[in-house]
Amino acid sequence: MRKKIIAGNWKMNKTPAQAAAFAKEMAAKADNASVDVVFCVPYTAISTAINAVAGTNVAIGAQNMHFEESGAYTGEIAPGMLTEIGVKYVIIGHSERRAYFGETDCDVNKKLKVALAHGLIPIVCVGESLTQRQLGITIEHVRIQVKAAFDGISAADATKAVIAYEPIWAIGTGVTATSAQAEEACAAVRQVVGEIYDAQTAEAIRIQYGGSVTADNAAELFNQSNIDGGLVGGASIKDDFDRIVNYKR
Ligand code: PGA
Repeated sequence: MRKKIIAGNWKMNKTPAQAAAFAKEMAAKADNASVDVVFCVPYTAISTAINAVAGTNVAIGAQNMHFEESGAYTGEIAPGMLTEIGVKYVIIGHSERRAYFGETDCDVNKKLKVALAHGLIPIVCVGESLTQRQLGITIEHVRIQVKAAFDGISAADATKAVIAYEPIWAIGTGVTATSAQAEEACAAVRQVVGEIYDAQTAEAIRIQYGGSVTADNAAELFNQSNIDGGLVGGASIKDDFDRIVNYKR
């Protein structure tokens, strides 16, 4: 039985002090031991957020990292810098990073390998654009993204990763995929994992849905058989995020 995982992607929101206050309050309300709960906060807020959630079920994640260990990469953050301060998760290949910062499938693959080597749990994002959906190539596209991301990664490592299926047209738009659309794509992601590895790996890997998840639609989405929780943006910094974590099973 896969344990559900619900992660908040705070994006470029909250100063360290704001993050600490919100994380503390939310961790108290969203401390659901039957779900893995993660707050992916801005780099500058990581330390204060970790202190704020100490002793709760909530883990702190980063929203990105570089694939090199160190070096002349001005403005970047290395994996070892994250693990040393207690980061447990890292989002990799979010569509905003792909769109605004030119991240490629090849970068995603390098980051995934490095995250796993450092014991970070990667949340790897895949998902189609509106044009791709309209062209009927959603499944083909996410299959390619998953194959490229997991190239050269062992089955044992793959099962430690989380995949977030996030249709780009649903991110931050208020237009959520229907539970049938989300389930179809998540099932396709699981199928391709089975083709790359085996049935056991496909059964074990956790697949989230992301894109305009709210307290009102979370339960229907998360109760689909191939959806193991969500990656939540806008609604993760709202006061009722705990309703998403404590969704009705
Ligand atoms: P959203 O963002 O929930 O605001 O649509 C999801 C995400 O970007 O991960």
